Amino acid sequence: MNSKFHVIILCLITNLYVSPNFGQELEWAEIENGIWKTSVGEPEDISLLAAADVRPKVEALDKLPSAVFPFLKDKIKTKIIDGKTYLQFPLAREEQIYGLGLNFKTVHQRGRIMQLHVDHYGGRDDGRTHAPVPFYVSSKGYGVLIDAARYITVYAGTGIRVDADDKPVLRDRNTDKQWQAQPYSDAVEILVPAKGTDVYVYGGSSPMEAVQRYNLYNGGGYIPPKWGLGFTQRVPTLYSQDDIAREAQEFEDHDFPLDFIGVEPGWHSMSYPCTFEWDKKRFPDPEKFNNELLAKGIRTNLWLNPYVSPVGSLYPKLKGLSASHTVWNGIVPDLMLAETRDILKNHFIENHLSIGVSGYKIDEVDGFDFWVWPDVATFPSGYSGEQMRQVYGLLIQDMTAKWFKEKNQRTYGLVRASNAGASPLPYVIYNDYYSHKDFITALVNSSFIGVLWTPEVRASKTAEEWLRRMQSVCFSPMAMLNAWADGTKPWSFPEVESAVRDVANLRMQLLPYIYSTFSQYHFKGLPPFRAMNLVDGFSYDQKVSEGELDSTDNPYKIAVKSEIKDQYMMGDNILVAPMFVGKKERKVILPKGKWFDFYNGEFVGENQVISVTPGLEKIPLFVRDGGIVPMRPIQRQAPKIGEKVDLIIRHYGTKEGEYTLYDDDGLSFDFEKGQFSEVEIKVKKDRKGNLRGSIGTPEKGKPYGYNKKVTWEFKTK
Ligand code: GAL
Repeated sequence: MNSKFHVIILCLITNLYVSPNFGQELEWAEIENGIWKTSVGEPEDISLLAAADVRPKVEALDKLPSAVFPFLKDKIKTKIIDGKTYLQFPLAREEQIYGLGLNFKTVHQRGRIMQLHVDHYGGRDDGRTHAPVPFYVSSKGYGVLIDAARYITVYAGTGIRVDADDKPVLRDRNTDKQWQAQPYSDAVEILVPAKGTDVYVYGGSSPMEAVQRYNLYNGGGYIPPKWGLGFTQRVPTLYSQDDIAREAQEFEDHDFPLDFIGVEPGWHSMSYPCTFEWDKKRFPDPEKFNNELLAKGIRTNLWLNPYVSPVGSLYPKLKGLSASHTVWNGIVPDLMLAETRDILKNHFIENHLSIGVSGYKIDEVDGFDFWVWPDVATFPSGYSGEQMRQVYGLLIQDMTAKWFKEKNQRTYGLVRASNAGASPLPYVIYNDYYSHKDFITALVNSSFIGVLWTPEVRASKTAEEWLRRMQSVCFSPMAMLNAWADGTKPWSFPEVESAVRDVANLRMQLLPYIYSTFSQYHFKGLPPFRAMNLVDGFSYDQKVSEGELDSTDNPYKIAVKSEIKDQYMMGDNILVAPMFVGKKERKVILPKGKWFDFYNGEFVGENQVISVTPGLEKIPLFVRDGGIVPMRPIQRQAPKIGEKVDLIIRHYGTKEGEYTLYDDDGLSFDFEKGQFSEVEIKVKKDRKGNLRGSIGTPEKGKPYGYNKKVTWEFKTK
């Protein structure tokens, strides 16, 4: 046979093999308003959304405007070769894409290759991260989710097809200065190592609307209990119940906010692997311990990893229901089995929940490869090591969340691995990495993918760094000091103690605003902490159309130039621009409309880049024109059930404004059955042009924790 013949035969064989799926006409069903789904090949019976057990919030989705399918359907191509699924989506020249996991250094993902793999973040945005969510949002206002529990590779506008519609310009490197090492690609291509997958497309008129659809389809965002939004301190590993009682007292003595305490590994009688049983020496009376703290309004959160110690009572029960491999000598419970989940539930409820434990910190479910089961591990349920790694964080979040839900009690905890579908889960992601700047970029990125992230504070080299980190953690989903290793306290640097207290108090004052912001996450799918790219009046497209960026240029260059990764919005009205150690000045990009200084109400600029020099005591905060910020007086703890507090309502700028103040009992899930209040706050101009504030009254019989008395503060003079 000559080689030409060889090639022809090969082509025929390949074609035959490929043909059943090549160019397969995809059926896109509009399963909810503006959300389309298709199944490519044979999707597996384990998936991310199934592991998260998502329940779409249909009514809320129906309230969104209708949307058009964002692609020409025949431009989406799929095939299955060698047991793997290939997906191809068009990408327009001016388009930018966001998401694709909890990234720490980059916001714009166009031009990157990501292998989405649950892992501890290792310093590179390559897809290995705590929440490698296979969801991307386009600046054009749509989103795409690949719902497969697999290590998915995404070529986010990197591969250049021979049959591309929009090919890069051919250039000669020898002579052409415009030659590019990474030429233009007009497609997002995705490799799923499985013989099929479900794919979802979320439409919208803006990137935010696509994100809202994604979050609402997953069940809407979580509203933490009010205490969860207060300050939390995690104590050193070997602290006993007496040490912790003293710690709580110290917080009182220092007049520092404290709503919950994190108990690190030392509460277990053995840890790594864990027994999930109280250590009798350090915690001789755990019930008393929890109750005494609770009497002071302080909740407890217990650290754990899922690896079960051979010396614990759970071991014999779980031995036959665990993986083929151990982690730190502990067995790995197979959470895909109902029997495993029941055994854990009985033990945890009896030993923790029933004596007042309020939540968990779920550690070590992400990896670093050595600290998780290997991919060659097998599980009795039959799912593979790879599949289990992608969903384990979701499974354990969902399982524990349900225990609390059954008690009609909200929890709020920490987790180190998550994935798609997590918005309604009561957990905030954290890690061991410690770059302050990158922590803020992670906070920005969390908003695209339906997860929460805390830039936790642990230690610092200087008082300045300490204060700067404390300032930003107070503007995040969980205001936390994690002193497990260093034994730090908020007042560890006496020279900045009062400035640290000020910012913690400011967070406590802002709880009415922050709580209302989380209600938007739940009811509207709006992330509480938002990338600038999701904000009205600021978009990548606008910068292009205003001529600030050149859209004929290579989009990768644009991506680098215009990326905004060190500032974000907290809710609708407050722009947060953290300061980093060593910096006296920083740039802040203000979206369209006028912006005002949070502290003194002064006008700072509009649709422009400003420079600010806030001094050490303050984190730069800005409020949009007409922005209303409901606050309360300084209190060390979040309001208790039934407690009524005074309102302080601030207004900024010269425009009229409106704000919906949300409230419920702060503890239970009764709000899901309508037990909540929404009260309209309005600031209008009277006939003389003076601003006047008014606030509605809550519906009778609905929980509402505010007194009638309102102090109005019109901050802009
Ligand atoms: C780490 C975790 C820390 C701390 C520590 C306790 O894995 O990230 O925050 O909990 O374990 O051993």
